[in-house]
Amino acid sequence: MNSAEKQLAILLEFGKVINKTKSLDDVLESMANFARDILQADRCSIFIYDKNKDELWSKVAHEVHPIRITAKRGLAGYAALSKETQIVVDAYNDYRFNREVDKATGYLTHTILSVPLLDNQENTIGVFQALNKKQGIFTNVDAELLLLISNYAASAIENAILYDKLRDTQTKIINKLASAAEFKDQETSKHTKRVGLYSALLAEKYGLSQEDIAKIELAAPMHDAGKIGIADKILLKPDKLSKNEFEMMKTHTQLGHDLLFDEENEYLKAAALIALEHHEKWDGTGYPHGKKGEEISIFGRIVAIADVFDALISVRPYKEPWSFEKAHTLLNENSGTHFDPALIALFNENIEKIHTIYQELKD
Ligand code: C2E
Ligand code: SIN
Ligand code: SIN
Ligand code: SIN
Ligand code: FE
Ligand code: FE
Repeated sequence: MNSAEKQLAILLEFGKVINKTKSLDDVLESMANFARDILQADRCSIFIYDKNKDELWSKVAHEVHPIRITAKRGLAGYAALSKETQIVVDAYNDYRFNREVDKATGYLTHTILSVPLLDNQENTIGVFQALNKKQGIFTNVDAELLLLISNYAASAIENAILYDKLRDTQTKIINKLASAAEFKDQETSKHTKRVGLYSALLAEKYGLSQEDIAKIELAAPMHDAGKIGIADKILLKPDKLSKNEFEMMKTHTQLGHDLLFDEENEYLKAAALIALEHHEKWDGTGYPHGKKGEEISIFGRIVAIADVFDALISVRPYKEPWSFEKAHTLLNENSGTHFDPALIALFNENIEKIHTIYQELKD
């Protein structure tokens, strides 16, 4: 292989790595390693540019702890502000070089290659920097290569920032919906929060993945979102519901599902499924579909327990709060009929942790 072929082969290998790794840190670290190997540099760092403070902070750096430096000085800062590649053959004889960085890290810099990371609008989002080429100095070919890698790095960073914003927005929407239903139902936000925490605890003890635990914690508080569609006359009735009124009330499951379901969003999908299934019962006598046993998703089976437990210990327009012990007893009396017995066993085993959540989030 000639050297261009070799570089192409490494680049293809690299493409596979970034597709497999998920977190931004992993992606950037593999890019830094890759750049170091391909450029035959001693170290590489990727800095993120903080526009508000006019500072650069190292997101990934070989052999050194994360640092924060001013963008007003130094080659990295120079690349960030000029948006142009900088090549230095003798750092200590270059007026742009910032000696403070070496002083802080105990490193001795000789040669530098700094490439700006630009987003789609050509705004600087960071700097990719290589230090001390093992033999000779950094060349224009090295600069071209680092620029190529930097395009990947820039889009990975941009995607991650977008993804964070998106997730933040979704969380806000979900919380807003939850408190709207809650408000109508005159329940406390602590109730929805507790249902989320009890559910996450059971999910963890059951052995679900971290991702599923996070999903259920966020989605479980939405189980009654469909109550938004139920008339106040029914929802806030201080007495027992008539047969017809209870039939109306039952529709909050399907209503909640239809309100929340979003094909594109895993959290809302989970929330929709939970809204649909949280009144199903293990023995098949629940609603809306009379699903039985493991036909009910694990999310639905878990939230059924968390919801009834918390409904019992909470005040409702139609009932006084029960004691912790009395509610715990009811769960056990209905293990295997209303509730999945394996989950009730886990609930019992972890009753102290349940009690802690109850204590810390009392109404
Ligand atoms: P919710 O108040 O959030 O109650 C959720 C579930 O907790 C109930 O589902 C039931 O399984 C359990 N639960 C709550 N309170 C009691 C209780 O005093 N005794 C027992 N054994 N279980 C209790 P369910 O029955 O499907 O009810 C769904 C929703 O319908 C309730 O949500 C509530 O909003 C409404 N609802 C149910 N019964 C009445 C009632 O008698 N009067 C009024 N106004 N609303 C009711
Ligand atoms: C600089 O950007 O001037 C500092 C280079 C270094 O990390 O030593
Ligand atoms: C809601 O889901 O936001 C309503 C409160 C409840 O869980 O009953
Ligand atoms: C549904 O609620 O229609 C299905 C949701 C799911 O399984 O993700
Ligand atoms: Fe409900
Ligand atoms: Fe509830």
